[in-house]
Amino acid sequence: MSSTPLNNPEELENDLEKSGDFSFLDQTLRPNKFDEYIGQETIKQNLKILLQAAKERSHPPEHVLFYGPPGLGKTTLAHLIANEMGCQVKSTSGPAIEKVGDLASILTNLSPGDVLFIDEIHRLNKMIEEVLYPAMESGVLDIIIGKGPSARTIQLDLPPFTMIAATTRVALISSPLRSRFSGGTFRLEFYTEDEIEKIIKRSANILGITLSDDAAREIARRSRATPRTANYLLKRARDFAQVNKGDLSSKYVADALALLEIDELGLTALDRKILEVIIEKFKGGPVGLSTIAAALSEEMATLEEVNEPYLLQLGLIERTPRGRLATPRAYEHLGFDVPEDTQRKLL
Ligand code: ADE
Repeated sequence: MSSTPLNNPEELENDLEKSGDFSFLDQTLRPNKFDEYIGQETIKQNLKILLQAAKERSHPPEHVLFYGPPGLGKTTLAHLIANEMGCQVKSTSGPAIEKVGDLASILTNLSPGDVLFIDEIHRLNKMIEEVLYPAMESGVLDIIIGKGPSARTIQLDLPPFTMIAATTRVALISSPLRSRFSGGTFRLEFYTEDEIEKIIKRSANILGITLSDDAAREIARRSRATPRTANYLLKRARDFAQVNKGDLSSKYVADALALLEIDELGLTALDRKILEVIIEKFKGGPVGLSTIAAALSEEMATLEEVNEPYLLQLGLIERTPRGRLATPRAYEHLGFDVPEDTQRKLL
C-alpha cells in the first residue's frame, strides 16, 4: 500500500521546490514520541488523553482527522499515535483507493489495533466513502453481491482499528464523513519562530550539523512557520556551507537561501509572483483564485493549499467574498507604493 508513485523525481522536486512541499525529504527527522514533538501543544494534550483513555479500556483509540497546510506534521502525528499505542500503521491515500475492492482489501488485511492512515482524504470518491461509514462506525464491511433484484449484502466483521485521516482541504470533506471521526478533528497551526528554531536545532543534532544560534534563527525566520520547510532549508544551507568549506553561519544561510530565491519572509518565487499578479495585473484585487492561477499557469489547488495559507498568515493578502486582495504590507514588501484606496478596499 503506498501513495501516488513518483514519475519523474527531478520534475517532482522542481515542482515541490516551487510549491514549498518537501514531503519525502524528512523521514529520519520525524519525532517518534510525544516528548520529542515540538509545538501543537493543545493537540498533543488532547491526543495524550485520548490515547491513555483508550489504553485503559484496552481498545484502539477512536478515529481522528487532522487538517491544515502541508508540512505541519499531520503524518508525523499519525505515526506518533501508532507508536504510543504500540501498533502498526498501514498508510494509503485518497486517490490511491480507486475501487471499493481496494478499500475492502485494505480493511480486511488490518490486524487488530492497527492504525489505518489515509492521507488526502478529501480525494476519496463518494462510493468508497459510503463503504467507509459502517466500517468506521460499527467495524463492519458491507459487500454487495450481484446486481438488480437478486443483489444481496453480506457483512464482514473487521478487526478493531483506528482510522487517522489527513487533509489540506477540510471544507471538501462531506459532513457525514467528518462526523465519523469520533476521536476528534484537529486543525494544525503554523509554528512560532521559537518552535521552529528548536526543531532546526534538534534536526541539526540528528544530522550531525554544527550551526550557530544566529544561523538557526535565520533559517527559522524563513521557514514559512513550517517544520518540513525548516528541515529542507537546514539541509540546503548545510550543503552550501560544506561546498564553500565553511561553518554553517547566518551568512551562509542568507547566501544559500538567496540562491533558492527564498526571501527574508520565507516567500518563494511563486509566492512573490502571486502578489505581483494581484498588484500589477489586477490593481491589488479583489481577484478570484482561479484567475490568478490562470494568469500564472499554475494549478489552483497548489495556490490554495500551499501558497495562500502562508500569505494569509503573514497578512500579505486577504480573502473577501469577491476574491483576494493585496494588503499594504504586500505592496511594501515588494517595493511598490501603496495606492490610497488599498485600506478602503480591505474594509
Ligand atoms: N520535525 C518535524 N516536525 C517536528 C516537530 N513538530 N517536532 C520535532 N521535530 C520535528
